[in-house]
Amino acid sequence: MREKVKIIMLGAPGAGKGTQAKMISEKYNIPHISTGDIFRFNIKNGTELGMEAKKYMDQGLLVPDELTVKILLDRVAKDDCKDGYVLDGFPRNIPQAEVLDNALGEIDDKIDFAIDVDVPDENIIKRMSGRRACINCGATYHMENIPPKKEGICDDCGAEIVLRDDDRPKTVGKRLDVYHEQTQPLIDFYQAKGILRTVDGTIDMKDVFAAICDILDR
Ligand code: AP5
Ligand code: MG
Repeated sequence: MREKVKIIMLGAPGAGKGTQAKMISEKYNIPHISTGDIFRFNIKNGTELGMEAKKYMDQGLLVPDELTVKILLDRVAKDDCKDGYVLDGFPRNIPQAEVLDNALGEIDDKIDFAIDVDVPDENIIKRMSGRRACINCGATYHMENIPPKKEGICDDCGAEIVLRDDDRPKTVGKRLDVYHEQTQPLIDFYQAKGILRTVDGTIDMKDVFAAICDILDR
């Protein structure tokens, strides 16, 4: 098994970044850090950060970098990140990627892989309407593909699972636009650094994971 691996998950909303990041985190024993989950946790707890982030998330827009970057840098500076981590949903634009690069460069560190989970827009809309997320732990289900054992209840923690506010079709369309405009350029950014790896995200999630493990274990 590879050690101290630092991974970025790229991909459109609903491509399966979270699904794959969770499996990577479990297999390679590294923390799964999702900025989206951090924001949703704060929304649920009614924090100031949560209230501010919600304004943008509900519209399918990115939360401003001033709010996002510090949270992420503080998180990766924590002790449990010493031996690697998998970032899910960060960076989301070139400035975020540059801030991360610079911060890592200062401690003579770097990202090892940017894994792009590639799924065309047509597949995305269908997936999102079926997705349900746990309001407590963020675990993700799909009404058809991965139903919970008990309807409406999270297998992992027993809390309620719901349709995310930003998974309504109109907001999904906006999130896809924002993805193409602001996040997709990161594919070229990491390609130029030689660390981009692409996996087909339309196949069964176990096969997607096998392709990712191949990359990480190579
Ligand atoms: P975030 O939470 O990151 O959402 P996202 O990028 O839009 O991606 P999703 O979580 O919707 O999808 P996913 O790729 O994780 O897919 P999943 O595994 O769930 O961000 C939400 C919002 O927060 C943003 O819009 C923004 O406002 C804000 N934000 C977050 N980070 C930010 C940042 N850095 N800067 C600024 N703002 C930020 O899978 C989707 C569904 O498909 C599930 O139901 C799953 O079960 C199913 N599925 C997965 N894989 C497969 C497969 N292979 N086959 C069939 N079904 C599958
Ligand atoms: Mg996610």
